[in-house]
Amino acid sequence: MTADPDLAVQRGAVVTGGADGIGLAVARRLAADGYDVVALDASETAAGAARASIPPGQRCRFLTVDVRDTTVLARSVAAVMRDMPVPSLLCACAGVKPPVDFRTVGAAAWDDVFAVNVRGAFFAAQAALPYLIKNHGSLVFIGSASANGDYENPLYGATKGAVVAMARSLAAALSPDGVRVNVVVPGFTRTRMTDHLSEERIRAAGQRNVAGRVNEPADVAAAVAWLASAEAATISNAVLDVGTAHGVPARYAPIGPAPGTTERGERS
Ligand SMILES: NC(=O)c1ccc[n+]([C@@H]2O[C@H](COP(=O)([O-])OP(=O)(O)OC[C@H]3O[C@@H](n4cnc5c(N)ncnc54)[C@H](O)[C@@H]3O)[C@@H](O)[C@H]2O)c1
Repeated sequence: MTADPDLAVQRGAVVTGGADGIGLAVARRLAADGYDVVALDASETAAGAARASIPPGQRCRFLTVDVRDTTVLARSVAAVMRDMPVPSLLCACAGVKPPVDFRTVGAAAWDDVFAVNVRGAFFAAQAALPYLIKNHGSLVFIGSASANGDYENPLYGATKGAVVAMARSLAAALSPDGVRVNVVVPGFTRTRMTDHLSEERIRAAGQRNVAGRVNEPADVAAAVAWLASAEAATISNAVLDVGTAHGVPARYAPIGPAPGTTERGERS
């Protein structure tokens, strides 16, 4: 149990995309810290495995919700927060990164990625807002270094740039209500989103991380937990890098192949 005095009353947290990867690590970390957690995720299969990973005595429930369905999303967030003693965190982790080629991507695929990464995060936050205002809670969004430019996947980069802009706007808008809004920016993290990449590429990403290894999901979850905690009571509008290459520019090298080449460096 954490020493955080606020957790003398059981605070509640909703985590979107909470059945796998970073979202699951966030849900597990918060549950271990004593929160009452509800993880919303589109994947029932992932939720089944995730449910089995929660130690007895911890409160972490999993609901199947696709964040692209704004009506169901809003209704679900409001319903679970209404039933929590002190709902005080919404962490929007649900995200997708399909390998789209910007030369050929169509509007439907564009809309779909924005619907998960940006619209889903926005409307989850909107639904949580009345509860967060009441309890001086906070929002944590998950960004990406791709917000600074991603030559491999400009569409994904655009969504993450939008997430950061949205968070900064909400931080300003909600400050008078006492609701803190922050972004955690994971560097390369070992999850399903990255497990198709070669070991060589993962090693290269690890070398660019100040720890000399890639992030594990728990590294990112620790940052989320701290931003949500009473220790961060005066922190809002922060964009917290976790294991990105920022700050070590001399070691910076693009993570992937040069534009227009395959991963082995051949012209595509
Ligand atoms: N892994 C990385 O290196 C990395 C780096 C930077 C940012 N991120 C971001 O971190 C977040 C989590 O990514 P991850 O690496 O854990 O990926 P992941 O694929 O392991 O997990 C994503 C989770 O989101 C869920 N999800 C996807 N679409 C959904 C939808 N429409 N509705 C509800 N749930 C949905 C998936 O089922 C899955 O459980 C994403 O926002 C991602 O963009 C990841």
